[in-house]
Formats: sequence, structure tokens, C-alpha cells
Amino acid sequence: MIEQVKTYIEEVQNSSFQKMDELEAFRIKYLGKKGLIPALFGEFKNVAKEERKEMGILLNDLKNAVQDKITSLKDQVESLQDESGEYMDLFMPVNKEAGSRHPLAIVRNEIIEIFSRIGFTVSEGPEIEDDWHNFTALNFPEEHPARDMQDTFFIEKDPDIALRTHTSSVQVRVMENNKPPIRSIFPGRVFRNEAISARAHCIFHQVEGLYVDKNVSFADLKQTLMYFAKEMFGENTGIRLRPSYFPFTEPSAEMDISCHICGGKGCNICKYTGWVEILGCGMVDPNVLKSANIDTDEYTGFAFGMGIERITMLKYQIKDLRLFFENDLKFLRQFEAAI
Ligand code: DAH
Repeated sequence: MIEQVKTYIEEVQNSSFQKMDELEAFRIKYLGKKGLIPALFGEFKNVAKEERKEMGILLNDLKNAVQDKITSLKDQVESLQDESGEYMDLFMPVNKEAGSRHPLAIVRNEIIEIFSRIGFTVSEGPEIEDDWHNFTALNFPEEHPARDMQDTFFIEKDPDIALRTHTSSVQVRVMENNKPPIRSIFPGRVFRNEAISARAHCIFHQVEGLYVDKNVSFADLKQTLMYFAKEMFGENTGIRLRPSYFPFTEPSAEMDISCHICGGKGCNICKYTGWVEILGCGMVDPNVLKSANIDTDEYTGFAFGMGIERITMLKYQIKDLRLFFENDLKFLRQFEAAI
């Protein structure tokens, strides 16, 4: 009988239930009026004297084991029951439908992949930035309009702390913390106080690129960007650089690619010009290198910055930027095949 009770204890400890009525049946089996435990106590008087003590302890252990099991499983089983009284089936096979990456993540990964093939590493910086890294070290004049409340989401004033308005801020951090040669890209989220429309959003994504070394020239910049354009949009893609202005580069340029939709013939994507703008770039202004204590007699560098939304819209012919942020499954499911 002692062995029998020990087996019951083990059985109780190893039992598990998914449903309330199973747990109730378990309770009745052991504790019910005609259950096992009352029956065993009934037989106690027949137990040999020398075994009584051990038997008494074991019977109490069994009773406690049953009660412990009921209290510990009750809440768990109850939580599996939904409002209609149905139970979740923990053994149901998982839904085989695969998730998919967001189009912006697909394109960001592709950009990282393209630049990593020519030796660019990836770094990241904070989304909440100080004035130094977002503006001052990047050679923004004190009165530059981009510093205005209208463009920038400030968190604190004096000293100014804001949500970064571009990933160029990461350039400064990387130059402050590393010695050249530096060859890196910086993907991330940026924030601007803009009205939301089909072409603009207050949150968007950029990838910044930076190369600082001895003898880095504008020709290196042009070759790097041409390589990128062809990898991203196809072998037949052409590029053109138009002079522009950014405080942190001198000279500065904006880069267009030949319209990959019409092949340069003219369509509504390129507004019948045959070209679409995709990024800003230039040679790092010596003032920016100096802010990061890099010797401008020894080193030069180039930088570029592009919007991931813009590249994605061109690549997949998406006409409204707001679609990226709505998470409508009908939109997102179209990218299941891409990786
Ligand atoms: N930071 C610029 C923007 O947000 C983009 C940019 C332009 C980055 C030129 C660069 C650059 O590094 O050289 O509009």
C-alpha cells in the first residue's frame, strides 16, 4: 500500500490540465466522497502498526499534492478560457502564414548591403541630439533657417536638445570617436516639423555616408555614387551631379539618376525631364573636419545623404509616402516576395 500511495503522489505531481472540467474530474477522483483519498484513509486502520507512521505522512503528502495541483493550475486554466467559455488549444499547429519585412527595411538593408561590398561599415547615433552634433559642428551658421522652430522639434531650449533633423549628426559623432580612415554609412530615423502629405512626413528615414582618408577626391565620390546607383536601380542607370549648397560640404551637389521608369524618355515620375533627384553630397567642409579635430592638411573626405522613403518610392513606384506609416496589410503584403 505504501508503494501504491507513492505512485499516486508521483502521478498527481506530473499531471497537467487544459480545461476546467478536466481539473474538476481530477479533484473528484482524489478528493470526492467516493474518491481515492477518503478510501485510503478508510483503509488506514488495516495498516500494520509499524507502517502507520510512514503511511500517515504519505497520505497527508498525497492530499497536499492534490490540493497544491488544483490551486496552482486553477488560475492558469481559467486564463486559457476566453469570454465565450471556449478554451485555447495550446497544441494547435501555429499559423503557417509568414511575416514579411517592411519595404523601408528591405531597401535600407539593400543599401547597407551595396555599400558593405565596397568596404563601408555601419554605425548609428542617437535620435535625440544636441545642437553641436545636429548643427554647429556641421558648420550651420547661427541664423540658419533649419535651426528654426518651424523645422526642428525641440525638446529643451538653452542648451538646445532636439530630435535630429538629419543623420548627418552621426558623421560628427563618428569623426569625434574614430581616427581616419573612416568609411561608414549611418542609417536611421529623422524628424522634421513638416505637414504630413503624399510627399512629406514629420518622421522619415535617411542613410548618411562618410569617407575620410588621405587623398579622397570628388572623383572618388562620383565613382562611389555611380556604383550605388547602378546596383540599386540597374546597370543602365546614369547619374548627373548638379551644383548645390549644404553648410557641411564644399563643393556640394545634388545627384539625379536617369529615370528608370521611362529610361530617360520622360514620364510623370520624372516630370518629363528624364531625371530624378535621389541624394545630396559633397566634399566634407574643412570646418566640419576641424570640429572633430581631424587634421585638414592631411585628410579630406566626402559625404552624402539620401532619404530611404524616396529611394523606396522610386524603386517600387509608390506614389504616396503616407502608405509607409499606415501599416495597411494590403499594402505590406505586396512585399512578401522581397527579402
Ligand atoms: N543632411 C542633408 C539633408 O538632410 C542630406 C545631405 C546632403 C547629407 C549632403 C550629406 C551631404 O552628407 O553631403 O537634407
